[in-house]
Order: sequence, then structure tokens, then C-alpha cells
Amino acid sequence: MSGTNSVSRSACNSKCSMIVVSNRLPFILRRNEKTGELERKASAGGLVTAVAPVVIRGNGIWVGWPGIHLDDPNEKIPESDPNDKAPTAGLLSKKIVPIHAEPKLFDSYYNGCCNGTFWPLFHSMPDRATFIADHWKAYIKINQEFAEKTVHALHLLKESNEKNGSPPIVWVHDYHLMLAANWIRQRAEEDDINCKLAFFLHIPFPPWDIFRLFPWSDEILQGILGCDMVGFHITDYCLNFIDCCQRNLGCRVDRKNLLVELGGRTICVRPLPIGVPYDRFVQLAQNAKPVLSTSQKVILGVDRLDYTKGLVHRLKAFERLLQKYPEHIEKVVLLQISVPSRTDVKEYQDLKEEMDQLVGRINGRFTTPNWSPIRYIYGCIGQDELAAFYRDAAVALVTPLRDGMNLVAKEFVACQINNPPGVLIVSPFAEGRVCVW
Ligand code: UDP
Ligand code: G6P
Repeated sequence: MSGTNSVSRSACNSKCSMIVVSNRLPFILRRNEKTGELERKASAGGLVTAVAPVVIRGNGIWVGWPGIHLDDPNEKIPESDPNDKAPTAGLLSKKIVPIHAEPKLFDSYYNGCCNGTFWPLFHSMPDRATFIADHWKAYIKINQEFAEKTVHALHLLKESNEKNGSPPIVWVHDYHLMLAANWIRQRAEEDDINCKLAFFLHIPFPPWDIFRLFPWSDEILQGILGCDMVGFHITDYCLNFIDCCQRNLGCRVDRKNLLVELGGRTICVRPLPIGVPYDRFVQLAQNAKPVLSTSQKVILGVDRLDYTKGLVHRLKAFERLLQKYPEHIEKVVLLQISVPSRTDVKEYQDLKEEMDQLVGRINGRFTTPNWSPIRYIYGCIGQDELAAFYRDAAVALVTPLRDGMNLVAKEFVACQINNPPGVLIVSPFAEGRVCVW
């Protein structure tokens, strides 16, 4: 639980430079309504928590989308606020290469293909996935745009004094960018730039019988295999990927050593369970002021508002607890933090509606004059405050229906500095448990 995996460790330890390419930059830009100035806002998600400290420590460049469509694409990205305590605070603007795209095209790529197809499909929920050719075309175009910007970042590295012998590592992240590698490789070769390419998937890689449902699944595999090294959280996902390469593309594979051959190249596939910056969370827990003023025991949930997180099941389980064991009434409170996520997608809008109704129903059913069973925060909390919640909660519930690697579980464990510590209840579908125990 060091906040790194081995791609990031080698990038930090060796003298090579690193370019991280991910759909999102590790913060969101918003325009201040009063001043008209752009400001950085925190962006919640496992990718940011795990990757940001590595990029900052390694003085790397980050290529990604700033979360806003700017009228002037050359508008300067502001530095972080001096009081910013987010893990990305040290990321300088000159180290950022923002992506700008035509809003409709980006919407089709991000909401249509990434959120509407790959997210549910890769979480083995194909009934929630849509397969739409126009979204796939948008996905191709935006991946090309990311590749262009990455080559631009490679030129920046070449021009700066930061090159020092070893070729830079270009580290492409997640299901948004599964096609970018081959274009980066080709364009870099044309420009006579040497680099190593790695890919890391932050979500599960599904078994073949699910993966093959995607009509353009061959292209996805060929895209990922454009890298020299491909990482997944656990060995099962590596084996799913290798299986798909063999069955879809007819590649020669070596399951024991986790290798795939394509076009005369050998691609290493590796399980790299991602972690959290453990010491940072211990420190945050040591320094955080108490924020929970209640005599009741607090059961904590912290999640993006996402249907993979099992939030509806969690609330219903809590309702059942109060119904079956009424001795807990006025003794416990469920504090659920739900971070707004992908709010343009219908599945997410429906979930918000369902959660609002369920919280209302359960509170209406059990509330007494001095107590309500559920406190529901629909918003994003800074990690310094989260650390206080983790530290002071009696129980944390991490109950996904499917999750690649849950970081909230690891952060909760890191923050258990009190005696006795809190209790973590983890679903068997949260891969984070493998590393927590
Ligand atoms: N997080 C945050 N503020 C919040 C809720 C969550 O900063 O209000 C962070 C949390 O600390 C964790 C990440 O978001 O690092 C969530 O990662 P996880 O792997 O649990 O889930 P993901 O959102 O990536 O699916
Ligand atoms: C997961 C994905 C990340 C993504 C994050 C937040 O952690 O693996 O790639 O950034 O969710 O989702 P969003 O769609 O808001 O970027």
C-alpha cells in the first residue's frame, strides 16, 4: 500500500521522464462566476489518488481533459491555490498538456462510449451497456487527439533539459484511452523520438464471453497491445486479457510468464495492484480535527454515486438492520457520502433519484424527535476531512457489486490510528480486500 505500483516505481526511481496520459487531468477547471477566472477544483476518483503523487514526485507531465470546454483553448491553466491540500497541489501548470475537443464529439466519446459502453461492460454488467457506432467513431477520434497531444508532450520533454539518457515512459491510463498507444508509437517514430509505452487499466478486465460482446473488440485489443507493458490490478484480469488476445486475435501467448506476441513484438502483462499514499493518510488522520459530533456510533460509506458501488443494496441492508434489530435505533447513524459522478448519463441520474427516495423513505420510517438514521451528503469532501471521518467512524461499509480495486477501503485502514480501531466490512466483489488483509 505504497501509493504506487511497479510502473510508477520504476519511473520514479530510474532517471527517465514520465508522461501520464489519462482522460481527466487530476483536477477540474471551473470558472469563478464573480471574477471570471479559472480555478482548479478537486476531482475524486481512485486514478487521481493513486497516480498524482507519482507524477508530482517524478516531475512528470500530465496530458488530459480539464473538465471544461474553453472558448479560448490557449487560456492559461491557473496554478493551484496556495491553501490547496489536494494530492495534486504540487502539479505545476507548465507540466500540464490539456486536451481540447469539440463538445459534441467529446460527449459522444466520454458519456456515450466510455461511460455508456466500457464502464458497464468491463464491470460485467452488459445489460446496462449500449453499443452505438457513432460513439465508437467519436472514441477513435478523441483517442487520436490524445495521441497528438502526447507526441507534443514528448517534444516538450525533448526540448527541455529534463532528458537524461533513458527514453521517457509514456503511461496511458484506463478504459478511455485503449486505442491511443499505436498512434503515439507511430508518430513518435516519425519524429525520431524514442519512448517506452505502458498501459494501466483501473477497472476490471472482463472474461472473454463478456468482452467479445463489444462489436469492435479486436480493435481494442490491438490498441492496448500497442504498448510494451500492460498492467491490470490482479492476475485474474491479466489472464482474462491474455485469453481474449488468444481467442480474438489468435496471438501466441504464454500464460505462465504473462506474455503476448503480436506483429513480432512481445508485450508483458503484469498484475500491479494499485495502492494509496499510506503515510499521507496516517498523517492526515493524526492531524485532522474531529468533525463528527455525535454520541451515536457512525457507520460510514464513501463512494462516487455509481451503480457499481452497491449503494442501493447498502441502504436496504441498513433499513433491514433497523427493522430486525430495533435496539440499534438512536444508537447508530449511517453517514453516506455520495460524490456526484457522470451526471449527464441516464443510469447515473436514475440512481441519484432512487437514492434520494430511499434515504427519504428510510429516514421517514425510523426518525425520532432526536435522531435520524441516515445522514446523506451529496458532494465531494477533501481528503483531509475524509481522514477524520475514516478515523472516527465505528464501521466502514465498502459494498461494491463489482470493483477493480477499491481505494476507500485502503484509506480507511490507513486512518485507523485509534484504539480500538474501526471495523471494515468489504464485499467479496471489492478487489481491494486482496491487499488490505
Ligand atoms: N474521494 C474524495 N472525496 C470524496 C470521496 C472520495 O477525495 O468525497 C476519493 C477517495 O479518497 C478515493 C477516491 O476518491 O481516493 C475513490 O477511489 P475508489 O478506488 O474507492 O473508487 P473510484 O471512484 O475510483 O471508482
Ligand atoms: C474511476 C475510473 C477513472 C475515473 C474515475 C472518476 O476511478 O477508473 O478513470 O477518472 O472513476 O470518473 P470520471 O468519469 O468522473 O472521470
